[in-house]
Formats: sequence, structure tokens, C-alpha cells
Amino acid sequence: MHPESPLIPRDVPFVSTVFRTIQTPIPVPACIPLLKGLASCEPRSMGGQPPIIWDRAKDFSIWDAHGNRWIDFSSGVLVTNAGHAAEEIVRSLKDQIDHGLLHSYCFPNQARIDLVRKLRSLVPPPLEKVFLLTTGAESTECALKLARTYGRRVDGDRKIVMVSFQNAFHGRTLGAQLMGGIPALKEWIGHRDPGFVQVPFPDGWRNTDTDFSAFEESLAEQGISAETVCGVITETYQGGMACFTPKSYMQALRKWCDTHNALLILDEVQAGFGRTGTFWGFEHYEIVPDMICLGKGITSSLPLSAVIGRKDVMDLYGPGEMTSTHSANPLACRAALGSIERIEKENLVRQAAALGEILHDTLNAMQERHAKVIGAVMGKGLVAGVMFTRAGTKDPGPGVASAVVQRCVEKGVMLFAPVGPGGGTIKINPPLCISEEALREGLEVFEEALTEVEGNRD
Ligand SMILES: Cc1ncc(COP(=O)(O)O)c(C=O)c1O
Repeated sequence: MHPESPLIPRDVPFVSTVFRTIQTPIPVPACIPLLKGLASCEPRSMGGQPPIIWDRAKDFSIWDAHGNRWIDFSSGVLVTNAGHAAEEIVRSLKDQIDHGLLHSYCFPNQARIDLVRKLRSLVPPPLEKVFLLTTGAESTECALKLARTYGRRVDGDRKIVMVSFQNAFHGRTLGAQLMGGIPALKEWIGHRDPGFVQVPFPDGWRNTDTDFSAFEESLAEQGISAETVCGVITETYQGGMACFTPKSYMQALRKWCDTHNALLILDEVQAGFGRTGTFWGFEHYEIVPDMICLGKGITSSLPLSAVIGRKDVMDLYGPGEMTSTHSANPLACRAALGSIERIEKENLVRQAAALGEILHDTLNAMQERHAKVIGAVMGKGLVAGVMFTRAGTKDPGPGVASAVVQRCVEKGVMLFAPVGPGGGTIKINPPLCISEEALREGLEVFEEALTEVEGNRD
């Protein structure tokens, strides 16, 4: 659980650079009644982020209504790959509004036609059919349902087990939480469903056994026969630590799924659309999954998600049997087309790879200077997970991580609250259009914040 921010304004040093302005106490005193009013109307679960009321945002900058401006290191939550309010997205949305179609249920509309064609042109075979939905969790739930139906077609009631990984996150709806591997999320809902099994995630740091044999051993220990597995789902990189699976493990998993006629599903909700320095995250493994789940950076803005999969899998249901009211909303489709247009036009994938080198080199050097509190740095391209740990251990250090986030926000660098095992990971993931200068400035601020927090602990 994220700690609730104390709604007490702090007199912080003012900041004025080309990219950052802080000219009020933080949180802004005038915002306190608004934040309290919000908390009184919403469940507590909606709290937990730094208490800043976002007013507007453009590319990699965020402003409040009080003259403060931040460099965005959050991309919302890895959404705004093409940048906040990118010109291409705004133009595309305005054109659609002026054109005069805001909804068409499952009746075809031109924006849906354009988007599914575009998405299909971006994926390798055998990925072929595109189904549009609204949220990331909806896309992983849909993949789960398709895998279960596929298993039943192959082998009746026997082949219904979905295998996933410990500490995985696939969303917060019921099926997505059952499939996920975060202990708290499973305990809340009761988790003794024999259709869902988790195996250790080979992160190579806390779990140093990265050989694929561990996958098979874990299934055997849990009494799962390979023939009962309908699908295996994994995040392309595990979001809680920005941690990739070793390539050899993933390639062995691809073979295992082929041998046992189980579907390999990659949850690309965070990893897609250039984030990791390749257009799709799975390209790093040199494999092609049977289905991918997409969300977040698909539009860089409006809610839209997708499942793209093999034709035989995606066509398992008949007409009208796999739909959603807001599937392929024309505005959301136009936002996606605008976002992809900017990513392609400005080659933001190559930019993510190039700036990613700077991000990771800088953070790795920082880790050496702050080895007492940073246990590891993970990720690729423009996503990094900085793992805060208690000195001399690999135990998560959530206190230091939260304090560093708070300091960064007070200094004009926007981060969301720490995530990952024990709440010890700070994720750094700016929009892919960030400039090198802003990236370097933000990282200097990050180290400044870290040094101050470390100093306060001694
Ligand atoms: C890997 C992954 N899958 C699924 C989801 C769920 O997406 P949504 O919050 O849009 O339902 C998330 C969200 O953080 C995610 O990171």
C-alpha cells in the first residue's frame, strides 16, 4: 500500500530552470481543501500519489494551476509514450469531433477500420487478428478467456490451467488478479483457484535461478502436468522492477508452449509502443508470442487496449460472442492513430533506445555511489526500475524510496509512488519525446534528492 501523503505544505526551495519551476510550498496550500474534498468522495484506494493537482501537460512537461512545472519522469503511468497532448493526437481528435461521430458500439466506423489495419501492419505473423477493448486489465482477461476456451477445444475440461509468474501484475479485475502473482492482491480475493498457478520469476537478482528447468520443476512440485496447461502469460518485462526475463529462458518457454500446445501470451501493456527501445518489447527475445495484450502507450492518452493474436485463437467465438460496449470508440482509435503517427514520424523508438543508454549508464553509476540504498537498477530503453534496499540486504527499502519520490516532486521532477515488491522500486519512465537535456537534468535532481534523503538517515 502506498503511504498516504501528509497534506501539510512544506516550504521547499524555489526552483527556476528552462524545464522546471517550483514557486509555492508543496503541496500547494490552495490545493489542500480540494484534495481533502476529493478524498472524502472517493475510496481510499484512489490516494497514494504525490498530492499535486495536474492542470495541463505537453510533451514531457506537466503544470499545475499555480505556476509550478515538472519534468515528467512518470508518463502518467507509462501511458504518454508519444508525449502529453502530442500535436498529432490533438489534431486527430479534433478532426474526429468535427467530423461528428463519437460512438458507434460494434457498428463499424472508419477510425476502427484504420486502427486495426495499422496495428496489424505493425505485428509479425502469426499475430493477425486485432480485438479492441478499453483497459489493460480487460485485455489480459480477454486473453485468459481465449486461452481457456482454446484449451477446452484441444482437450475438454482438462486443459484449463493458466500459468503465470510470481510478482506479476496483469491488472486489477478478478481474473487479472488471480493471474497476477502479487501476494496481497491474491489474498484479498481468496486465491485457491486450481486454474491459476504461479512459478518463480527469473529476475536474476533476488531469484538467481534463471534456468528454464526451474519452470518445469515448479509445475511438477505443484502437481501440474504440462498437458493441463492452456496458456502461459508473462509481462514482457515485469513492471514492478522493470525486469526482463533472460532471453534463453523465454526462448525455452516458447518451445515448451509449442510442445504442449499451450498459448504463450505476452502482456505488453507497459512494454509496447517503443518504451523499451524496440517497437514491441518481445522483439528483445527474438520470439513471437501467440497473443499480445496492449494498453497504456497505445494512445498516449485516451483509454484503449487491444488483444492481437493468432487467427485460430481470436476466431474461437462467433459473431456477437466477444464484444464490449466501448470497444473501438472512434475518439480512442483516432488518439491511437495520432500517437503511432508521432512515434513513427519522429522515430521515438530509436530515441528511446538512444536515451535509454544515457538513462541506464547514469543510474548504474549512481548505484555505485549510493550502494547502501540502491540494490539494483533494471530495465531497457526509457524504463528503469531503481530498487531501493535496506543496507547490505536485498530486502526492499520502501521508506527511502518514498522519501526520494517526495523530494523529487518538491524539486520539479514528477514521479509516481514506488511500486514493486515491498514498495521499494522507483520507476523512471519519461515520455519517449523527452530531450536529452531534460533527461540529464531530471537525473541530476534524482541524485540530489537521493543524497539529501541518505544524509538525513545518517
Ligand atoms: C503489465 C500490465 N498489465 C496490465 C495492466 C492493467 O492495465 P489497466 O490499469 O489499464 O487495467 C497494467 C497496469 O499497470 C500493467 O502494467
